[in-house]
Amino acid sequence: MKKILVIHGPNLDLLGKREPGIYGRLTLAEINRTLKAQAKRDKVSLAIRQSNHEGLIVDLIGRARKNKFQGILINPAAYTHTSVAVRDAIAACGLIVVEVHLSNIYSREEFRHKSLISPVAKGTIMGFGAKSYTLGLSAIIDLIEAK
Ligand code: DQA
Repeated sequence: MKKILVIHGPNLDLLGKREPGIYGRLTLAEINRTLKAQAKRDKVSLAIRQSNHEGLIVDLIGRARKNKFQGILINPAAYTHTSVAVRDAIAACGLIVVEVHLSNIYSREEFRHKSLISPVAKGTIMGFGAKSYTLGLSAIIDLIEAK
């Protein structure tokens, strides 16, 4: 069975209440429920983690291969723009990594226009709200199947 890890970065635990005009009204639990249903339909085993801590996210990525994951779907949130450590962990992990964002980072403040993650991700999906996650999960499943 395919095994995929979903990582939600900092402040995504606040979805639903956090700047709904930008991030939408769905809570993280609702997004996770949709992902779980999609995974079940596609016979994929999904583990979902959220952390506000950079080191913990680095650890999750670093252990993913040993824990038999074949792909990682990650919204690095604010660490997208700041974290060399998360980027290096992704570059080192040897797995299919897809980066997602709820918002289109290029239509927002200039400091969000640079992603340190995109150059080391297989691809990036952004701007479609919660749909970015379901599109990203489909992409990873297709890529694992094509391997
Ligand atoms: C985000 C975009 C980031 O710039 C921001 O820091 C987030 C969420 C998104 O999903 O749109 O926390 O990754």
